[in-house]
Amino acid sequence: MHKAYISGTGSCLPERVLTNNELEQMVETSDEWITSRTGIQTRRISGAGEQNYQLAARAAEKALAAAGLEAQELDLVLVATLSPHMIMPSCACFVQAEIGAANAFAFDLNAACSGFLYGLDMAEKYIASRPEMKILVIGSETLSCRVNWEDRNTCILFGDGAGACIVESSSARGIVDSTLHADGNLWNLLYMDSPASRNPDLLDKDRQGCYIQMSGRDVFKYAVRAMEDAVTRLLKRQNLAINDVCLLIPHQANVRILGKLMERLGIEQEKVFINVNKYGNTSAASIPIALDEACQEGRVQQGDLVLLCSFGGGFTWGSMLLYW
Ligand code: COA
Repeated sequence: MHKAYISGTGSCLPERVLTNNELEQMVETSDEWITSRTGIQTRRISGAGEQNYQLAARAAEKALAAAGLEAQELDLVLVATLSPHMIMPSCACFVQAEIGAANAFAFDLNAACSGFLYGLDMAEKYIASRPEMKILVIGSETLSCRVNWEDRNTCILFGDGAGACIVESSSARGIVDSTLHADGNLWNLLYMDSPASRNPDLLDKDRQGCYIQMSGRDVFKYAVRAMEDAVTRLLKRQNLAINDVCLLIPHQANVRILGKLMERLGIEQEKVFINVNKYGNTSAASIPIALDEACQEGRVQQGDLVLLCSFGGGFTWGSMLLYW
């Protein structure tokens, strides 16, 4: 029986660091408010040469090097993103060209902040039917282009970055199980408008601009409940307990959401990887960036049981268990 396992990780963050003190000059807010409500201290903002696909390609090159693979060996480039620099072609096609993955097919996937988890799950399904495949799964975002910098409710939360991993088959380790969910009825609690329609019959009169719109308190409540439920369900299905988990890498939205999640799951803080303080919420990029940092810091060792969980617009959410 073949399992899909992660043979290499990589990440890329833009150079520019935006601090809470700088945000104080832009909107009516304070470092104290942002830190106490979100735990976020800095985030990265893209500049010239740091388009979404360029961050994604740099992360991909590092993941390829870590896996000891050449780009030409890849069969699929899958990018999870909600902030591509173009609608067509996909970000994945730009990455494919940028890194020279000439033999790979390429497409984007949008499941908001859960996109990377959805992508890994899809990669696992490809590996199950074609174990020889070598798949590049990326989560990459430039949300700074999609944030209203005059809206203090949202502009303090988000950041840019990319994380990547190579997925190959193994008979010993890899993805054990995953559970994915969505509830489109709750779409209007967290959404981002598209650019205005050119078809007058489809023009939305209520359109507020192509920015992220959010009902913060509702999102907070749903996020905690949904991630707890997804994790509990998955552990139960696998006859595992939270104590069996060596490291939890959750979507990095807010330290208060993560604090509540830890409390409800009964997992010690030392077993939870948190870097939202440095990068803010990088949506689909948050889990792969955290995964790469966890590897670099030696927080995951071969054989460890790793748990991933996410929540995002849609709503979408899910969890995944894998042996490293
Ligand atoms: N600085 C100062 N005050 C701010 C502020 C800011 N950046 N943003 C909002 N406020 C104000 C509000 O206007 C409100 O003022 P009012 O009472 O005069 O109307 C007050 O702070 C409280 O707002 P509220 O929304 O109730 O705060 P909160 O404690 O819920 O914290 C969030 C706001 C956004 C930090 C919190 O709801 C949250 O983290 N939600 C989840 C967001 C998220 O993670 N989204 C992505 C999920 S993938």
